[in-house]
Amino acid sequence: MCGIIGIVTKRREGQTAEIAVECLDRLSYRGYDSVGVATLGDNLEVVKMKGKVEDFSHKFDVNSIRGKVILGHTRWATHGPPTDYNAHPHTDCSNSIAVVHNGTIENFRELKAELEMLGHKFKSQTDTEIIPHLIEEFKRRGMDSFSAFKATVNAIEGTYAILAVIRGDNRIYFAKKYNPLVIGIGEDTNYISSDIPSFLPYTKTIVVISDDEVGYLTADSPLNGGVYIEHKGEKIEVNDRIKIINWDAESASKEGYRHFMEKEIMESPRSVKETISGLLADIDEVMKAVKILKDSRRILIVGAGTSYHAGLLFSILLQREGINAIPVIASEYYNYRTSTDDSILAISQSGETLDVRLAMGKFKAEGSKIISLTNVIYSEISRQSDVSLYTSAGPEIGVAATKTFTSQVASLLLLWSAIKDEDFSYLRNAHIVVEDSLSLSGKASAFGEELAKQSNAYFLGRGLSLPLAMEAALKVKEIAYIHSEAYPAGESKHGPIALVTQGFPVIFINGEEDLGLQDNVQEMKARGSKTYSISINKSLNTDREILIKVNDKRLFPLAIAPLIQILAYRSAVIKGTDPDKPRNLAKTVTVR
Ligand code: AGP
Repeated sequence: MCGIIGIVTKRREGQTAEIAVECLDRLSYRGYDSVGVATLGDNLEVVKMKGKVEDFSHKFDVNSIRGKVILGHTRWATHGPPTDYNAHPHTDCSNSIAVVHNGTIENFRELKAELEMLGHKFKSQTDTEIIPHLIEEFKRRGMDSFSAFKATVNAIEGTYAILAVIRGDNRIYFAKKYNPLVIGIGEDTNYISSDIPSFLPYTKTIVVISDDEVGYLTADSPLNGGVYIEHKGEKIEVNDRIKIINWDAESASKEGYRHFMEKEIMESPRSVKETISGLLADIDEVMKAVKILKDSRRILIVGAGTSYHAGLLFSILLQREGINAIPVIASEYYNYRTSTDDSILAISQSGETLDVRLAMGKFKAEGSKIISLTNVIYSEISRQSDVSLYTSAGPEIGVAATKTFTSQVASLLLLWSAIKDEDFSYLRNAHIVVEDSLSLSGKASAFGEELAKQSNAYFLGRGLSLPLAMEAALKVKEIAYIHSEAYPAGESKHGPIALVTQGFPVIFINGEEDLGLQDNVQEMKARGSKTYSISINKSLNTDREILIKVNDKRLFPLAIAPLIQILAYRSAVIKGTDPDKPRNLAKTVTVR
């Protein structure tokens, strides 16, 4: 969590903080409870505050803050509440060193106590503040800036992506362990950030930093030594690492939509189309994954939140084929013991989720083969997998996963068909199902408007509709702050129905017509519930209904996914919450 950006320019006049704020805005899905910028020119200046990036540009004249080197940070608080003091960047005693950090430092208390004994004065409650003081301390003992930075990195334990500026040179020092860092190479300005979309309008040329690497960035091109990277003391050949990505800059902007979430739902048909063509173009990798999955005794499908729901749906598809597939909530990974006969499918939009990485680490150590499905090329999860598959949904900025979920489901349908040796050419039309379904978004919005008046709701489903009901409940909860829960419809009679009184909203997700939902509708109606349904091909006779026609029933989850997202989105808009930045959440969860 937290988004960090570093910018270093050759321009004589430097860059203004406006550019850092703009990059931070595109990073703020990673955390948005405080924000700050440090600029290094003749002096080191730091401006920071509690609040969101937009509040920062209102409060400060960002055009008048200028430097040749700039650091920026948008925070998701871990150590210390969101306050002006706890906001990053943090500085040393002499205001010569500024640091931004994403991660947590486990041994910060011991280090802080030692530094305080040596006379260092702290202004915040954060773990991060020890970093500039440690650098200062090592410099005081005679080390040059890079050596002091490396000594600091060696002293800390935990997870981190760190950027530091030190008066005396125009470099950004960086270090990475677990949390992401990627460099963007521009013409006269270079960037280093938690994620590619932040600098996407300026460059598509990137260098991904790996775990346990340290180095520094200047404004020069890598060919002229602008990027220096070391791994455990060994210099890395940077030119071999340079990649060009094919994301377009527009995909990281709202393009006239009120929220990223709405725009991203509307992009789903394109995302699904590109995902399917991307996988078909990479069919050798897909078939490698299929072989591993088919040869396994068990398949553990690991994911968190929305990605878990996609995995749950896939596990049901496989179980129905007699395949031993186990859906695993990533954070509960320690409950499972695997062996060399098992394989793991790790699903993660961001490719960074720490719980998924911890699960992968354990299962890999036990000898299982790892396949991953992520939306971010060269992500940590992809790089640690035996086979890496990708959705091609494009960058997703809204905290709520939308087009990436629909694209995950499309990818998993392709894998399922490939496992069954079934012709998967039907998936070439998958995006049309999504498109047709979106033509009913007015109806889903109307459901959302009614739901916005409620404090509680149930989503019920059976079979493959259950993961979709769970996803709907998660979406409504996370962005509209309505308490919503999902249950297998039959299970609702074993407890949850006790809460159903006159007018209690129950939304049925009805993708497979013959599983017996009809009875559950009657049970809910008999208790005064207001019943809704999103049904495929056959009516459920609820009070309100969206009926979607889908010719190829295998594709039905792709018709339901965008409508549950629209429903949740509309509830949030009516309630006046910010669906792109729901409270307490961050898009990329890199803490346990
Ligand atoms: C989705 O709307 C959520 N914000 C969240 O549950 C998310 O799906 C989860 O954190 C997993 O993220 P990942 O796919 O990047 O691993």
